Amino acid sequence: MQVHLAEHLPKSKRIQLGSYYTPEELVKLVHEFIKPYLENKKKDVILFDSAGGCGAFLFGIKQSDYRIADRDLKACEFLKQHFNQQKVFHTNSLNEINREKYFISPSAFLIMIGNPPYNDTTSEFKNGEKGQNICDKDLYDRDIGVSFLKSYHKLNADVVCVLHPLSYLIKESNFERLHDFKDNYKIIRAEIFSSALFHGTGTSKFPILVALYEKNADGMTFNYIRNFRFNILDSDKTFVLSNFKTTDGYINKYPPRKNDIQKSPIGLYYYSFRDINSLKKNTSFMTKEHPNGIVVTLENFYKYAYLYSLKNLFNPEDAWLYGNLSPLVNIEEVEQNKDLYILYAIKTNKVLREMDNSILKKVIHYYEITLNNIDAVDRIEKEIRDRLDKLIAMEK
Ligand SMILES: C[S@@+](CC[C@H](N)C(=O)[O-])C[C@H]1O[C@@H](n2cnc3c(N)ncnc32)[C@H](O)[C@@H]1O
Repeated sequence: MQVHLAEHLPKSKRIQLGSYYTPEELVKLVHEFIKPYLENKKKDVILFDSAGGCGAFLFGIKQSDYRIADRDLKACEFLKQHFNQQKVFHTNSLNEINREKYFISPSAFLIMIGNPPYNDTTSEFKNGEKGQNICDKDLYDRDIGVSFLKSYHKLNADVVCVLHPLSYLIKESNFERLHDFKDNYKIIRAEIFSSALFHGTGTSKFPILVALYEKNADGMTFNYIRNFRFNILDSDKTFVLSNFKTTDGYINKYPPRKNDIQKSPIGLYYYSFRDINSLKKNTSFMTKEHPNGIVVTLENFYKYAYLYSLKNLFNPEDAWLYGNLSPLVNIEEVEQNKDLYILYAIKTNKVLREMDNSILKKVIHYYEITLNNIDAVDRIEKEIRDRLDKLIAMEK
């Protein structure tokens, strides 16, 4: 069996258990992050990987006391050959959680490490091969990775150093779902890397963190996360959420609710989106009403022309890093250059070109746009690309 590759499992089982074993480079980073706690130990330190797989995080670390658990019987049989059998637990680590279950004394300094499974919407879980999240009631979440974070609080861990998707922290609705974990732990250090580093994961890449948390009675607020400086692995750049301005509050991303106007006065809709990933993946303008159709009007048309431009022309090298963010925007710039985005949309979008001519005329008239041949598509594209490049405000 391989420590860094769950090759003993068929693909379906790998997806179900989230068995994507961690490459050595990332394991080493976790070891580096926890080193100070091992060196300054005042009392008994126990390292615990409760989703241990074949033990990637415990091989190569000199720590006399540890625990390792996994639900996968084969992985546990392997672990028992390489580790002290008393310290290996074949169990569901989200069920009946407490220190006693693992013979950890209440006074021990507990450090949770590892790479628990997660069910990001971009992962292969969505293909209907989802395993069930059977766990203690208070740990339940539709994403098993969130349940794992909550379990560390239930174990009263002193330090948590694990891998998890960046989206758990930077999407406010996800952050709220961390409940007691966010109220009792504070992120201290974090390094972002691409899911591409994992062997056998899906094609759409998303950002993952090696995150170090300490127990802290004040916990973390979303504002703390907004201003937290995340490092980026193998890069001298950093990622600070508050540096990014998004379309939230500026461009509506939802289809009409019950009491809203359902029909577009110009017969135009835009397919709804959650973030940059879904904006890029889904279609754009539509002329028929659709359950996922946002109502486009004459007045807001330029905003959707902007989104359409972003969908096609925002292709940064490190696109995986921004996928979970709402579409980025410089509002002032869009307000001043409505015609640029409208021209691009009108000239390149098939649905717009094929729709009723009188509507297009209305748009052109409303925005006082002059259509002429000088506005070649490549020139417009270049101009927009240059503007979109400036949206990425990374800091050193
Ligand atoms: C992403 S893999 C990580 C394995 C190992 N820590 C590593 O990084 O190489 C996740 C592991 O969690 C295990 N797992 C999934 N759900 C579990 C649960 N409820 N309880 C215990 N282990 C679980 C899977 O069997 C798999 O080995």
